[in-house]
Amino acid sequence: MSENHKLRVSKIRNGTVIDHVHAGQALNVLAILGIDGSDGEEVSVGMNVPSDRLATKDIVKVEGRELNQDEVDVLSLIAPEATINIVREYDVVEKHRVERPDTVEGILSCPNAGCITAADEPVTSRFDVLADGVRCVYCERIVRDEIASLIEP
Ligand code: CTP
Ligand code: ZN
Repeated sequence: MSENHKLRVSKIRNGTVIDHVHAGQALNVLAILGIDGSDGEEVSVGMNVPSDRLATKDIVKVEGRELNQDEVDVLSLIAPEATINIVREYDVVEKHRVERPDTVEGILSCPNAGCITAADEPVTSRFDVLADGVRCVYCERIVRDEIASLIEP
């Protein structure tokens, strides 16, 4: 198949392509990055597109914004295979994998109703990242599955 036949989402000129996102996670990627279109940024999302490496994948393209490593590392929690491509004048000038951060702050909310972060206190959520999940630093609740459901609105 020629590249023209394969391309589902337009190439971008300048910005970031988050590629090889597990199918079904694209909207969670946007939620974690706080991208909802309200800033007027141009965002393209492909869902369940064919992939060489995964059976199918999701892909997110953000025009006009180069996401930094700290911003994208939190994506490792829901999209561990993601590739980050920085694009300038249509060329991929940087390509790297997401890396698991040691902690994530202000991104996930603790599911424990008794946690200090659930009270009406000005406490920023913070989780330590474990090999197989995340642990609230305040109440030590561990979440292994459904991390995406903890993403703060
Ligand atoms: N891309 C884009 N706009 C550009 C350049 C690239 O949207 N101006 C996208 C491509 O469509 C692809 C991703 O960025 O989804 C990575 O591009 P590239 O490195 O050229 O593709 P591959 O070599 O297939 O990447 P990989 O080896 O990471 O699968
Ligand atoms: Zn907690």
